[in-house]
Amino acid sequence: MITIIIGTNRPDSNSGKIAQELISLYKSQGSEASILNLKDLPAEIFQPGAYAEKPESFKCFSDTVLNASGLHVVTPEYNGGFPGVLKLFIDMLPFPESFEDRPVAFTGVAAGQFGALRPVEQLQQIFGYRNAYIYPNRVFVMNVFSSFDEEGLFNDEKIKGKLSDQAKGFAAFIDALK
Ligand SMILES: Cc1cc2nc3c(=O)[nH]c(=O)nc-3n(C[C@H](O)[C@H](O)[C@H](O)COP(=O)(O)O)c2cc1C
Repeated sequence: MITIIIGTNRPDSNSGKIAQELISLYKSQGSEASILNLKDLPAEIFQPGAYAEKPESFKCFSDTVLNASGLHVVTPEYNGGFPGVLKLFIDMLPFPESFEDRPVAFTGVAAGQFGALRPVEQLQQIFGYRNAYIYPNRVFVMNVFSSFDEEGLFNDEKIKGKLSDQAKGFAAFIDALK
């Protein structure tokens, strides 16, 4: 099962909408995929004591990561970096087994013209440190607010093609590593 992580807890986030595009693409190509949305994280993990003792309510989130065949992180750009909630999520996961030898792909989403290149590269550094297998084909969704039609549907055909190639390629990358 490929787990698509929405890298923010902002309600109605554009990263969430891109994650929905990705899940449709994975399913249409016959890959099993699910979404892990950081907005669903339990309030207990924001308590200082959570570093020492993981709350029971977090277990389903860490189990989802531990059981994933691959992680596809969709990260927005916040102040030139990836959101703080995503770093807290990473820090709450069991070490080292959460990312060790786990395939991971990255898609960046931003209002700006660089399409979250900076947060994706920051994440590559962290996941590289944690010995994940990083899939090299990254996708950057730039100027995201102008990428939806009046009904709210994603209508950037060029980026859709890139996301489709990324989903196909990441599924093949996971299979090749088995
Ligand atoms: C706290 C915050 C900081 C942001 N900083 C940046 C930024 O540095 N560069 C940028 O291009 N967009 C920035 N944005 C806009 C996001 O890229 C935009 O909201 C986009 O839709 C992706 O975020 P989302 O998934 O929360 O919607 C910021 C948005 C928020 C909420």
